[in-house]
Amino acid sequence: MTHFKSNTRAQNAPLYEADMTTGFKNRETRSLPLNKIIYNDCVEAMNALPAGSVDLIFADPPYNLQLKGELHRPDNSRVDAVDNSWDQFSSFSAYDKFTNEWLKAARRILKTDGAIWVIGSYHNIFRVGTALQNQGYWILNDVVWRKSNPMPNFRGKRFTNAHETLIWASKSEGAKYTFNYEALKALNEGVQMRSDWVLPICTGHERLKDSKGEKAHPTQKPQSLLHRVLVGTTKPGDVILDPFFGTGTTGAVAKMLGRNFIGIEREAVYREFAQKRIDEIRKFDRASLEVSVSKRNEPRVPFGQLVECGMLRVGEELLSMNGRYKAKVRADGTLIGRDVRGSIHQVGAAMEGAPSCNGWTYWCFQRKGKVIPIDILRQQVRSEANKKTN
Ligand SMILES: C[S@@+](CC[C@H](N)C(=O)[O-])C[C@H]1O[C@@H](n2cnc3c(N)ncnc32)[C@H](O)[C@@H]1O
Repeated sequence: MTHFKSNTRAQNAPLYEADMTTGFKNRETRSLPLNKIIYNDCVEAMNALPAGSVDLIFADPPYNLQLKGELHRPDNSRVDAVDNSWDQFSSFSAYDKFTNEWLKAARRILKTDGAIWVIGSYHNIFRVGTALQNQGYWILNDVVWRKSNPMPNFRGKRFTNAHETLIWASKSEGAKYTFNYEALKALNEGVQMRSDWVLPICTGHERLKDSKGEKAHPTQKPQSLLHRVLVGTTKPGDVILDPFFGTGTTGAVAKMLGRNFIGIEREAVYREFAQKRIDEIRKFDRASLEVSVSKRNEPRVPFGQLVECGMLRVGEELLSMNGRYKAKVRADGTLIGRDVRGSIHQVGAAMEGAPSCNGWTYWCFQRKGKVIPIDILRQQVRSEANKKTN
């Protein structure tokens, strides 16, 4: 493994390295350096890419920590803090200038319905948030990543710094950004995903080490964080760009999840670690990459379609889920029961004396002595339709 040493791009080194395809490419993305690490300054590299070509940007920019002097633990061992030259700026205004430059370049390459995530700490995230809003991005959420195993505050003079903040923003107000609500809910065991995420920092086998056994990068992010971001806000085949690639966490997770990535990293040593790491990743098979979709996004199936295609017979009797009421299917896809007629929802509501009713889960049909909800038939119609379009 490469020994850690800071080193920027050699004059004649190629800008694009590596060629790993996720297998998802379309006409718009063919001209992009997909699944490659660009070895350059991120502003220069983004300015060389076509406008409106990227679905999502995940950015973990320098924090501008401004550390003064070395930090030691109570046993006098040195704390491995972020004191690298790439994290140093002469003043807040120099940092703001840099932030505005890269955010401007990032916004140009985002598709109209694209979005951005920026992660940071109290040192920089407020400045980044201001710049995002000033440039016309539209903040959708801020997410607190609460570290389940944070580093203690060794001096005992402040609270343990146990979280980082992620800002999620669309390119502009009203953009139709991707949000896989159902997939996130499924990830969270059926409960709506909240904006506070408790995840461990990157340790153990996941943490890349150099030949001396030391951390290859001071701020390698955990894969779990990127997993949640990418499952929640991208689709398979999307293009995800990370302008501060570091050890390539974004690329590694994107490859696993069947997304395309573009990484940009200025330091040769990190790029090498990232490249090796990504080469070793195996992506999941296509079926495992499919995520739960919102019912609202599923094709609409009118009840009448079940009658038209003979899944239910005209005149067939449906039974309410609680077994108390019956209604007959009419040729036009309405129901008639007692003295009410109307849609499956209207008749269900009238029978129950309720203001509304979901007829799909209320009504059942009978086959071979079994009582089966009509929603099963709707699912069959949908899966047939999916087979035809795939
Ligand atoms: C906070 S780290 C990102 C770590 C990464 N998320 C990971 O999981 O490994 C920021 C990275 O951006 C790189 N960097 C800083 N300024 C840059 C610039 N102007 N262009 C490209 N890369 C830059 C640094 O070398 C560093 O690796």
